[in-house]
Amino acid sequence: MSSINTDVVVAHNEADNELKEQEKYLHKLTCCFRGIEKPLEILPKVDSLEDLIAKLHDAFSTVSVNMYLVNHLMLSYKSKPSEWKKFAKWNRSRYTRNLVDIGNGKFNLLILCWPADHGSAIHDHADSHCFMKLLQGELAEVKFEMPKTQGIEDGPTEATQTENFEEEKLKETATTILKEGDVAYINDNIGLHRVENRNHTDGAVSLHLYCPPFQMCSVFPSGSAKKVKCPVTFYSKYGVRQEQE
Ligand code: SIN
Repeated sequence: MSSINTDVVVAHNEADNELKEQEKYLHKLTCCFRGIEKPLEILPKVDSLEDLIAKLHDAFSTVSVNMYLVNHLMLSYKSKPSEWKKFAKWNRSRYTRNLVDIGNGKFNLLILCWPADHGSAIHDHADSHCFMKLLQGELAEVKFEMPKTQGIEDGPTEATQTENFEEEKLKETATTILKEGDVAYINDNIGLHRVENRNHTDGAVSLHLYCPPFQMCSVFPSGSAKKVKCPVTFYSKYGVRQEQE
């Protein structure tokens, strides 16, 4: 006769519920969190990438995550190539997304490698928080207003809607040049962005934290309000190249 260990089932359900509650909390927080520019004196310092990951796990151990602490930790990490080199897998013809840590399903920490003259398409962040820290080189972040017609997603049913929808050009709002150590922050309430390595010879490397993690986001390939859903993929995981990507 088979039996079920009810303790294990209860523990699983509790963990699942906590994850869902945290997701809800984080999505709500995008309405008001706007990022900080400098580390906070009273909060703990970060010694290494390993220490950053451990402190991020701690920060995400409660449902109501302290986003100032998360931002502070990202700002406090001092880039040491010897610590992140093993994750930085390059492709000469496009930028790569390399998974470093999945934060027990609560966040994704990634290293992105940007070859010279390459960048991302204009995209949203699926209602999550995005922190981007420059580890090496320089990147330009170009921000855009979220289009008003963004609710129309699977294609409008009337011709007039199509015209209006396609006509709305995204409005550029700001360009920031990010240098080593800087941390940019964005969410869908702030707007959309595109990231560019404008250097013609040198690559750039950035560390990204997304919370909650997401599997799909929207890109705006024509610079208009017409968006396309895209899966997010990993070029490598934990330093190992993923052949299927
Ligand atoms: C990504 O995670 O692929 C997007 C990088 C960016 O912010 O441009």
